[in-house]
Amino acid sequence: MDCVCKRKGIILSGGKGSRLYPITKGISKQIVPIFDKPMIYYPLSTLMLSGIEQILIITKEEDKDVFKNLLGDGSQLGISIEYAIQHSPDGIAQAFTIAKNFLGDSPAALILGDNLFHGDCLIDKLKNCNSKKNGASIIACPVKDPERYGVVYFDSTQKVVNIEEKPLKPKSNLAVTGLYYYDNTVCDRVKELKPSGRGELEITDLNNLYLKDNQLWIEKMGRGMVWLDTGTFDSLHEASSYIRTIEHRQDLKVGCPEEVAWRMGYINNEQLEKLAKPLYKSGYGTYLLNLLKEHQFHI
Ligand code: TTP
Repeated sequence: MDCVCKRKGIILSGGKGSRLYPITKGISKQIVPIFDKPMIYYPLSTLMLSGIEQILIITKEEDKDVFKNLLGDGSQLGISIEYAIQHSPDGIAQAFTIAKNFLGDSPAALILGDNLFHGDCLIDKLKNCNSKKNGASIIACPVKDPERYGVVYFDSTQKVVNIEEKPLKPKSNLAVTGLYYYDNTVCDRVKELKPSGRGELEITDLNNLYLKDNQLWIEKMGRGMVWLDTGTFDSLHEASSYIRTIEHRQDLKVGCPEEVAWRMGYINNEQLEKLAKPLYKSGYGTYLLNLLKEHQFHI
């Protein structure tokens, strides 16, 4: 079904975060820092780099105000941010039941609040997914431990045959990442889903519905691209070290929504300067102000 509406984005930031207890007993996982910024800045920047300007953040009830204090209504970034509650973590695909009114007739992009994407050609891939009018586009990445994820199986002609959720014996190393682009049939398709054995509305079941209709496209991440999820102590630490290494070496920030907003033309120089000033002491604001200096090499 063709739709002329612009794609809207969802950041799913609920969940228990129990693999990070006790850190996440009193704070949302997606607020925990990855080096120099809150975790949610990374998926927010990824959606913005896709060209998405209307975003819904889904949180637990007790966390909503924390996210609102951090990001407000998005107008400071030249975008719109709304909030909704997931009362219990009943599965990733439940995001579309919650976001039904927000989405209306628009196609959707969903990103998990603890997923971090970075690397060469990423923006092209994101824009490519965003430009597709019909079906679903998902991003897959080779990993060492595919049994922890949804795994994509191909036949001998490289046609996708199936996606299996957390298989005991994975037949490929290609994991489905936490970034999904769907057409505007997604909310209707979610109604067809039944809770899985673990009581969740599974995103893999949703993707397999699109696959059954020959409406699923897979974008494979190459060697120069990085996908990190940050749900355990080790992966949290690794993600922070990765960002610190890149930022120190290049003097360019990863996952900086203020910079993305400025580069995408959502805010002008004066607005960037206004955002930078209260952040001056930490060095974050200095970075933003330096973007405005003419000699800065812009990428
Ligand atoms: P998970 O890492 O699968 O779950 P979790 O965050 O609750 O963590 P843990 O296993 O340590 O208890 O979730 C991946 C992301 O999706 C994470 O950002 C939370 C989000 N999520 C929700 O917001 N709601 C849900 O119902 C589920 C299943 C996940």
